[in-house]
Amino acid sequence: GFGKREVNVLVVGLDNSGKSSLLNYLRPRETQTDFIAPTVGFNLEHFVCKGLSFTAFDMSGQSRYRTLWGNYYRTTNGIIFVVDSSDKTRILVAREELQQLLSHPDISSRNIPIVFFANKMDIRDALSDVGVSSALGLDGVTNKSWHICSSNALKGEGVADGIEWLSSAIK
Ligand code: GTP
Repeated sequence: GFGKREVNVLVVGLDNSGKSSLLNYLRPRETQTDFIAPTVGFNLEHFVCKGLSFTAFDMSGQSRYRTLWGNYYRTTNGIIFVVDSSDKTRILVAREELQQLLSHPDISSRNIPIVFFANKMDIRDALSDVGVSSALGLDGVTNKSWHICSSNALKGEGVADGIEWLSSAIK
């Protein structure tokens, strides 16, 4: 929007973690949808927070598209990493994808803030934010600003908290 600083954020995480649902919640109410299909390639979304105008690259999390993520690391101002907290098996795959992201030269050389959403907190037996943090090994991430929140992307719970943190970290 006019007068607002334009920033790019990359939205990554395994397929089915809730990336598109989370961005749908950030849309103006009248353009939100009840029908979200798995993302092919990527989609662009826009939202505004704390005086920043965000262009979000909603990347597909399907394994055959994950190699696309790296193409956008160089130009991103922040990263949104979404995890399905109820999927305790695949969280190990998410951890591997995170390690790859962190070791990419376009990420490791820059101090890009990362917000983690421990999503699907509404599902019974889902891991807490602390549980997800430990499963991902976030204690070892000492050269980046990061923050983790539990979220329910369907109801929007926890979403504003994480996006506001990211906005402040980018500013
Ligand atoms: P890809 O496009 O394949 O990478 O998936 P995605 O990460 O964009 O996930 P998407 O938003 O398509 O959501 C996947 C499924 O999880 C959908 O059926 C959503 O309704 C559901 N979902 C997303 N967030 C939540 C949540 O917080 N709680 C629950 N219970 N379900 C969720």
